[in-house]
Amino acid sequence: MTEHWTEVHAHAERLRGRQLRRLFAEDPARFARLSFRLDDLVVDLSKEKLDAPALGALVALARAAGVERLRDAMAAGDEINLTEGRAVLHMALRDSVPAPEGDDVAGTRARFLDFAEAVRAGRFTGAGGPFSDVVNIGIGGSDLGPAMAARALRPDCDGPRLHFVSNVDGAHMADTLAGLDPARTLAVVASKTFTTLETMANARLVRDWLGAHAARQMAAVSTNLAGCAGFGIPESRVFGFWDWVGGRYSMWSAIGLALAIGIGARRFGELLAGAASMDRHFLTAPLERNLPVLLAMAGIWRRNVMGWPGVALIPYDQRLERFAAYVQQLDMESNGKRVTRDGTPVAMATGPVIWGEPGTNAQHSFFQLLHQGTDIVPVDFIAAARPRAADAGHHALLLANCLAQGQALAFGRSAAEVEAEMAVAGRSPAEIARLAPHRTFPGDRPSTTILFRELDAFALGRLTALFEHKVFVQGAVWGVNSFDQWGVELGKALAGTLIPAIRDGAPLAQADASTAGLAAAIRELGG
Ligand code: F6P
Repeated sequence: MTEHWTEVHAHAERLRGRQLRRLFAEDPARFARLSFRLDDLVVDLSKEKLDAPALGALVALARAAGVERLRDAMAAGDEINLTEGRAVLHMALRDSVPAPEGDDVAGTRARFLDFAEAVRAGRFTGAGGPFSDVVNIGIGGSDLGPAMAARALRPDCDGPRLHFVSNVDGAHMADTLAGLDPARTLAVVASKTFTTLETMANARLVRDWLGAHAARQMAAVSTNLAGCAGFGIPESRVFGFWDWVGGRYSMWSAIGLALAIGIGARRFGELLAGAASMDRHFLTAPLERNLPVLLAMAGIWRRNVMGWPGVALIPYDQRLERFAAYVQQLDMESNGKRVTRDGTPVAMATGPVIWGEPGTNAQHSFFQLLHQGTDIVPVDFIAAARPRAADAGHHALLLANCLAQGQALAFGRSAAEVEAEMAVAGRSPAEIARLAPHRTFPGDRPSTTILFRELDAFALGRLTALFEHKVFVQGAVWGVNSFDQWGVELGKALAGTLIPAIRDGAPLAQADASTAGLAAAIRELGG
């Protein structure tokens, strides 16, 4: 392994002083060499600050790190989630690998999709008639995937209106329920554990709001069937899944129920088919042409070799406005780890900080820093080559802006170019000298562009699985367990101890001075 890292770093030394401008000038075939395809999906790495030999060394590193071995172990159902003693089989939800003996994936899927169709067709109704609205109550992986996909596939949402309530801030539920009819609203409680504080508090709230209708108009999705029964949701409306599905990998299971009610069983099947096409590619394509591997290794290059800690994820697609939030959980909860699989401190930086907003809006807020700030923030652009049928018109403007941002980041505008332009525009030498530094773009800032034909259910499934597998590959190279999330537990436990003090004014035992002072201030100000 060490020699592979040494090799990768040697390429970095070779490339560090060579600007992207020069790399493009030296190699007219750079796009052909560094962009990769799976059908209509294009991943263009040519604006990353690497070249083919460097990428070759990164792929060799992935191979030496045992990415294929761990991938195949995951596919075989080995318990690669070592700290929880669980297999990692979200690929089984799209029939890409076998599920454990006795776990009836197809039957469970058919059951929740039948229910979705019954709701859509008005065969299962509320007290006041066919459901007009569905409220999904869940958080983290029980919210972000279906909420992201429901937004992304808005043109396909021809069932009842979908709403997603996650936050334990009562405002979220109050604002969502305002204007809904309790006699025509279905509440879906989605929680793998059926113990999550936020979800259970919101589930109780919605049960009260539904009143006499609650007995009929609530459904649940969980691995905790006893918990659902204890809450009062009848077995006929409880949809299960399995402990081998991680929360942030669960939108393909019954956790996608609300989404399925929105888009229907056929489109849900297309979403799964898209993910399955990426699974097939991930499981079989040589690492040199394997899109998740290449994307992951470009990320390793950014993070561990170039030392850039952040990633801006910028879809040029308004309907992907929740995609960065979704990937934040997928990536940061998976790879935000500080020890390796055997519990020893990890020797290098792991998961990057991911954030983002759709373009072009982002251009008018934080892109200034990306272009001229003192930190380099690599950008992942995502765009569809053509709009959904009803949205024609603006799409060329959108795509031109997407490509222009990649160009501006990579090639910038030199001081000499700025000065020449200003001279042509008749500016005085003094003015040119004063303004040129402000108007110069350093360039040499990396980006990856992911492009596909159209944002339909298949493309969304494939894109999402691409990111899932990218996260897997990076976790394998860093040697961390990407499938646990112990880092979220301490805060949950501490909140439990603070609730009596905040809610009831109970004395705070052994709190630090800051927490005690803030709790006192909350009591004073909150009344
Ligand atoms: O707190 C983190 C977490 O456990 C996530 O991993 C998970 O997606 C989320 O909470 C929700 O958990 P559940 O589906 O069990 O309510």
